[in-house]
Amino acid sequence: MPFYHKLGKIPHKRHTVFKKPDGSLYSEQLFGTIGFDGMSSNSYHEHRPTQVKEIRGSYSVKPKVATANNIKSYRFRGFQVIPHPDYLESRKVMLTNSDVDIILASPQQSTDDYFYKNTDADELIFIHKGSGKLRTHLGNLDFKYGDYLLIPRGVIYKFDFDDENNRLFIVESRRPIYTPKRYRNYFGQLLEHSPFCERDLRQPYELETNDEKGDFLIKVKKQGEIFDMIYATHPFDVVGYDGYNYPYAFSIHDFEPITGRIHQPPPVHQTFETDAFVVCSFCPRKYDYHPESIPAPYNHSNIDSDEVLYYVDGDFMSRNDIEAGHISLHPAGIPHGPHPGAVERSIGQTETEELAVMVDTFKPLMVTEEAMKIADDTYHKSWLDH
Ligand SMILES: [Fe+2]
Repeated sequence: MPFYHKLGKIPHKRHTVFKKPDGSLYSEQLFGTIGFDGMSSNSYHEHRPTQVKEIRGSYSVKPKVATANNIKSYRFRGFQVIPHPDYLESRKVMLTNSDVDIILASPQQSTDDYFYKNTDADELIFIHKGSGKLRTHLGNLDFKYGDYLLIPRGVIYKFDFDDENNRLFIVESRRPIYTPKRYRNYFGQLLEHSPFCERDLRQPYELETNDEKGDFLIKVKKQGEIFDMIYATHPFDVVGYDGYNYPYAFSIHDFEPITGRIHQPPPVHQTFETDAFVVCSFCPRKYDYHPESIPAPYNHSNIDSDEVLYYVDGDFMSRNDIEAGHISLHPAGIPHGPHPGAVERSIGQTETEELAVMVDTFKPLMVTEEAMKIADDTYHKSWLDH
């Protein structure tokens, strides 16, 4: 996150003596990225954060690929993913490549008996259904419908859900996720033409500080495996930190759409970027106002990126038979566009209530066995005349 945040108590100077009330020292940790060149935070802990007691073993969570070289357009019925009480067990990878996993999850219970840390990837979690609190070692964030939660790699976290009806769309990215560079100035500040600004980005506001010792299970994801690691001190023991590397939230409802006289291309919806994919938010907006404009998109060949759309809410004007929770996959190299009748239907319409999240990946995506369980295997023929 390219702006500074401070929470809790920290000493006046970094790397200097910082004493607890009993005279002993707090333990300092630099939590940084890209070696020592990227964003970092400096945190102060009740105990040394290095006290591994035991590594109890590991298990693979690598997705099972059904189609490695996919050329078919698909529709997946996301709400058919079966809920599971446990957060990690509930996560089902739908689409995958070496940069990114696209995951659906419907956890029913809060993560009570373990902490989770992903060392492989930044996690962008879109809350389609559900509310509660994301608790992390760098502070807590409240969340509800429409929020993106961005959890940088290495952040230790837990979910407290308000109830059992939760639907999450998760993008797990081996590449760091940032806000688009073209919307930031030389100093990192979001510019006037950006569809959102720092005020819209919610920083952690509540720090949990525990000085307990004992046996604390952190499930650590590394290279597609989860290691059960037992630590001797509570993972949430930070008394204060400052810096640029921390989890944050952004509501899709705070995205200000960019519109024009004629159809605007997908980059106006861009919300996040990496060097391997982009994430866009399609939000309720006024349609194009040229008197002869066609609000529906034109047919397009995304020649070198796979396009994944996750449909959240509203009416999806360009598609027939698409419902909330569905995912469409339009693979690179194959043209797609509005369904039959959608172009004509769109003419003269003045606004849309559609809400959707799009992920365009620069490398092809592989379709998993989990995705095939909820796939519409005829979708690729849905552009034929009836
Ligand atoms: Fe498209």
